[in-house]
Amino acid sequence: MPFLIWFNLLLLSPNVGASKTCFPGCHCEVESFGLFDSFSLTKVDCSGIGPHIVPVPIPLDTTYLDLSSNNLDSINESMLTGPGYTTLVSLDLSYNKISRIFPSTFSRLRYLESLDLSHNSLVALPDECFSGSLLGDVDLSNNFILDITTNIFASKGQGKPINVDLSNNLISLVSRHQGKAIPNIQSLNLSGNRLKKIPDLQGIPLRFRPTPSKTCQLSKRSICPTTPTSNP
Ligand SMILES: *[C@@H]1O[C@H](CO)[C@@H](O)[C@H](O)[C@H]1NC(C)=O
Ligand SMILES: *[C@@H]1O[C@H](CO)[C@@H](O)[C@H](O)[C@H]1NC(C)=O
Repeated sequence: MPFLIWFNLLLLSPNVGASKTCFPGCHCEVESFGLFDSFSLTKVDCSGIGPHIVPVPIPLDTTYLDLSSNNLDSINESMLTGPGYTTLVSLDLSYNKISRIFPSTFSRLRYLESLDLSHNSLVALPDECFSGSLLGDVDLSNNFILDITTNIFASKGQGKPINVDLSNNLISLVSRHQGKAIPNIQSLNLSGNRLKKIPDLQGIPLRFRPTPSKTCQLSKRSICPTTPTSNP
């Protein structure tokens, strides 16, 4: 059935690379899908421009926004607001100098699934800063975070599994507020920190790799890897 195959290809294969009117300095790449390219997603790359880039206007169908390497030192909600932001799925803020985020910083990004804050200068994270989104992956590695309360990764309602990378920080204490929502953390990377005692991860549905040991390793390279083993 060559026609059917052709039809499927037409329907599913993305048409990558078309460029689009984009904010000066940024680079936009459009992927179109569907019959006659009826459906499109845009990746916007505004990396390496400078702190004046925020807030940057982005196309309405933007799914991925790269704001890395811009010397940003603080990020608030008015820098992540405007048409296109509400439906953003992935945001890269890595390699900046961000030392401050606010409880409301990501509050407008209601469909955000992936957030990269690695290689910044964060020392602490405000409560509730991730509570308004649907985050499935958050990279906080290579910051200066001193302690962490796992409840901040609990998402409201959904209970969506989240992968958290906290490697290469200065974390000495991982705690949890009793009585608050239990986060559905799927994997937690605490390698390269300064843990003084084994974190209280009771009730958190971490999934461990079956070999070489069934436990989460907290030695030099402490990792709780992602491979699902318990629940199919
Ligand atoms: C966000 O930060 C910018 C620059 O520091 C400031 O002008 C603006 O008023 C801030 N917005 C909010 C909502 O705090
Ligand atoms: C945890 O983080 C370290 C350092 O960033 C990395 O080398 C390692 O691969 C990570 N482990 C997993 C399971 O992702």
